[in-house]
Amino acid sequence: MAIERTLSIIKPDAVEHNHIGGIVSLIEGADLRILGMRMVHLTRPQAEGFYAVHKERPFFAELVKFMTRGPVVVLALEAEDAVARYRKLMGATNPADAEEGTIRKAHGTDIGENACHGSDSVENAKIEVGYFFPGYEVL
Ligand code: CMP
Repeated sequence: MAIERTLSIIKPDAVEHNHIGGIVSLIEGADLRILGMRMVHLTRPQAEGFYAVHKERPFFAELVKFMTRGPVVVLALEAEDAVARYRKLMGATNPADAEEGTIRKAHGTDIGENACHGSDSVENAKIEVGYFFPGYEVL
């Protein structure tokens, strides 16, 4: 298995509900190493740029509004097979479908307010990690 990096975002809903520590604990408990971590209140252009692949989706405006509502915590994670392992740890996009023990089962509310984001491929992880941690995008 290759060592990979992936980007995690603890979303505004989870920050508002004091779930940063709970989510970080699940990440560390899953043996994903935290390379970088910081809190940032996204501007609208930052959120629109980050989610540009979704700009034609009907939920795009709602997504940008939500992601700029309050601060988020961005984390650069590293491990063998990190992208798939972190996605498994997050659980299904809709918390109602997420398995027991996942971040979204424990901390998500609905498909929009789902507590966390994770890169969906190694290629996107490089772009997303570089978006928030310039210089970390290449192993
Ligand atoms: P995320 O992993 O951050 O990637 C895109 C986000 O869009 C996703 O998590 C959801 O929070 C959000 N999303 C996906 N589908 C919907 C939907 N039907 N309505 C609102 N938000 C959605």
